[in-house]
Amino acid sequence: MKKTEQEEIDEFNAWKCKCIERGYYWLLYRYNIINHMIDLYGYVNYLEIGVHNGTCIRQIKALHKDGVDPGAENVIVPEVNYPITSDAFFELVDGHDIKYDIIFIDGLHHDYQVYKDINNALKHLQPNGTIVCHDMNPMWEIVQRRDRVVNAWNGDCWKAWVKLRSERPDLSMYVVNTDNGVGIIQFGNQICINLSEDAFDLSYDYLDANRNELLNLISIDDFLKIYKV
Ligand SMILES: C[S@@+](CC[C@H](N)C(=O)[O-])C[C@H]1O[C@@H](n2cnc3c(N)ncnc32)[C@H](O)[C@@H]1O
Repeated sequence: MKKTEQEEIDEFNAWKCKCIERGYYWLLYRYNIINHMIDLYGYVNYLEIGVHNGTCIRQIKALHKDGVDPGAENVIVPEVNYPITSDAFFELVDGHDIKYDIIFIDGLHHDYQVYKDINNALKHLQPNGTIVCHDMNPMWEIVQRRDRVVNAWNGDCWKAWVKLRSERPDLSMYVVNTDNGVGIIQFGNQICINLSEDAFDLSYDYLDANRNELLNLISIDDFLKIYKV
């Protein structure tokens, strides 16, 4: 029997909701969030760690953009002006008064590396700057395994996030529930979470059971209210 139009709309909405929940479809992408912060604060200097094919950096409206990528996935685009690892980049700028307004961290998706990248980025962030981190809210166990077994790979970046949520009362940290989890870090304050073990030893089940608190997860609506242009 042919479906009524309303049944078709209901079916579409149910599918769309499911896709949003499970992370196939997003209303805002990482670059929309970054551009929103650029508009809000008038940021000029942008650094992207992990550029790949340039999908994100090309959308970014900042006047000055630096891209870091060693070509680990055999892709280097012209937007990459530092074809080296993030560690090598931060060594290069170490001791120099080089500060960015906004830094996007999306390089090697391993907890210890993301933790290092965020800490290094904090040393080169303007006092009113923002760090944006990708892949902070994996929706399946399989996408967050250390070894990449699926194409859409978040890795265990979330553990670096949770570690900082447990030890840095001087930061403000939110994960926007969109595009694999977009983390926003600024200098500010937060009430640190208590962990009974090292964040790097946490299981995916633990994340799944405590997602909101561990990540400080917010909706897109909340994001637009907190960071109102
Ligand atoms: C997920 S892709 C980046 C996608 C891009 N940021 C975007 O949003 O379109 C991850 C990139 O990180 C790079 N990468 C891997 N190890 C890295 C490292 N140690 N330092 C910096 N980048 C690294 C890879 O070469 C790959 O191009």
